[in-house]
Order: sequence, then structure tokens, then C-alpha cells
Amino acid sequence: MDQMEHTETTATEAAAASSAPVRKKRIFSAIQPSGQMTLGNYLGAIRNWVAMQDEFDCVYATANLHAITVRQDPKQLKENTTNLFALLIAAGVDPEKSIFFHQSMVPAHAELSWVLSTFTQFGELSRMTQFKDKSQRHADNINAGLFTYPSLMAADILLYQADLVPVGADQKQHLELTRTIAERFNGVYGKTFVVPEPYITKTAARVMSLLDPSKKMSKSDPNTKSFILMVDEPATIMKKFRSAVTDSEACVRYAEGKDGINNLMEIYAACTGLTFAQIEDEFRGKGYGDFKTAVGEAVVAQLEPIQQRYKELLKDKKYLDELARKGAESAARLSARTIEKVYKKVGLVR
Ligand code: TRP
Repeated sequence: MDQMEHTETTATEAAAASSAPVRKKRIFSAIQPSGQMTLGNYLGAIRNWVAMQDEFDCVYATANLHAITVRQDPKQLKENTTNLFALLIAAGVDPEKSIFFHQSMVPAHAELSWVLSTFTQFGELSRMTQFKDKSQRHADNINAGLFTYPSLMAADILLYQADLVPVGADQKQHLELTRTIAERFNGVYGKTFVVPEPYITKTAARVMSLLDPSKKMSKSDPNTKSFILMVDEPATIMKKFRSAVTDSEACVRYAEGKDGINNLMEIYAACTGLTFAQIEDEFRGKGYGDFKTAVGEAVVAQLEPIQQRYKELLKDKKYLDELARKGAESAARLSARTIEKVYKKVGLVR
């Protein structure tokens, strides 16, 4: 007995003293394959996905189950899903470092989602601002899935026992509800889920419309000049920046009331790593024309290599499918632990 205790202590001490790896925190995130990605998606989210891969244990998915809460053309959905997968890999999501797959390939998402929907209150779902917005925009199709969307999102996150979820403002409320659901379930059945924290990155840029810089850049804007797509041709990107809204002061500086210039500065800073002060120095005495050209060129420098890799990847759909299948296998293995525990606790025959 004595000896065993002694051995245990020594082993623990040895592990602590050696470079035994501490478990990295786990991140979960997903993006809906609902069409083209914009520069806003890239600088606000995708680039972070890439950056987080070294520090964290990342699980990433295309959220195609979420996408069908609004009516989709089947062929288009499939194509969008593959394209998004390829684009993210082209941008630097590395299937060797991270688990990356399509949500629909791992049935545990749908399974846990159902269980968690019974731990989500009608009143809570009714208060979700995204549900209210979307049911206004799609008044002809306010389906149950659109309503229970947050339970599926909770399942995505809780299945992998994620510690952190990088979220923008629009998903904060859903993450809050995920925490509530996890705590409620843990309260009834004992500790089952890690309660995830929001992960706020300082580096995430908030990119606004090029024509109305009081609004977020959005691909659903009817005027295509208001947004930059990740797959826009370099010439198109330059043209769109040249027509970006500015002001009449003709001075590149970050200040209140200069939303257009502020937005361009934010984009330039995100692409070059320069501070606002450095940018002001660089363009002192120069006109907006020069500045817009520089911003356009900085964006092209970021996107062009991604576009080239993207085109290459799309030539080999088999390879992409194979990567997704491998990712899904790893995801299924991880999520099986959680779903088995949950079914057992709830009393569901497996
Ligand atoms: N609902 C998210 C969005 O539209 C996508 C998403 C699905 C997600 N599941 C998730 C994001 C889990 C973070 C964690 O942007």
C-alpha cells in the first residue's frame, strides 16, 4: 500500500517535472455553407480559425444541417458545402492539425440535438433575436428547425466538450443558451458537459460595407460593390475599393464621423499588421486615391494565394471527400464518448 502510494506520487511528480503535455483547450466552431464568403468572413472569423490551430485543439465543421433551416437547392447546397470546405483548407485550416468535417457526416449531432431540445425551453427559443429576424425574412417558411436551431448548435459544441467557442456578436446569444442548456443538463444528471466559454479574439476585424460603412459587410447586399468576396478577381477587388465611400476631408486618420475611412483603415491594418498611427504616417499628405489603391493591393495580397490553392483543391474532389471522411471519423470517435454517456444518463436504450 505504502509502496503504491509512493509510486503514484513519484509518477505524478515526474509527469509534472517532465514536459508532459498539458491538455490543450478545445475549440469548436462551424460556418454555414450558405454561399460565398466575404472579406468580412475572412478577416473576422476564418483567419482566426487558422491562427487558433497551434494553441488549441480545434474541431471545425461546415454547418450544413443548420443551412437547411432555410430552403436550399440540393445541388447548390452540396456544391456550397464542398466549396466552403476547400476554401477553408486553402485559407490554412489544416486537416493534419485540426478535425475538420461536414456536420451531416456525424449523426451524433442530430442525435444529441434531439435530446438537448428537450432541455431547451420554448420561451428561451422565442427570445432568440436571430429567430425573430429570420422568421421575418422567411415568413413563408417558419419551420420548427429554424426555431430549434440553437439546440443543434448546442449539440455541436457540447458533443466535443469544447472549452471555448469563438463567437461574433450575432452568435453570442446562442452560446449563452448553450451554456444554460449544459448547466441544466449537468444539474439534473451530474457533470456531463463542459460548459463552454466565449472566446473573444482581439485580432478579429469587423469589416463594414464599402458603400454604407454603418452596416456590416454582407454578401446579401443587393449592390455587389458593397462587399468583397474571397473569390473576387484582383481587378474586381481593386475596382470595388476605388468606389468605396469615404468623406470630403481628404485626410487618412481614424476618427469619429469618418466611418468609410475608418473601415478602410481597419481592413488595411488587418492585412498589413500596421497600427492606425503607422497608417496615418504612411499616408500623410497623400490623397484617398493612393490609400484606396494600397488597401486594395493589401487585400489582393492576402486573397490571391488562397484563390490559387482553392482552384487547385477543387480540381480534386475525391481528395476533398477523403479529407472530410477522415475528419468525420475522428469527430465520430470523439463525439461517441459524449453521446453514449448522455443516452445512458437519460435512460435511452442504445
Ligand atoms: N450558427 C452559426 C452561424 O450561423 C454556425 C454554427 C453552427 C456554429 N454550429 C456552431 C458556430 C457551433 C459556433 C459553434 O454562424
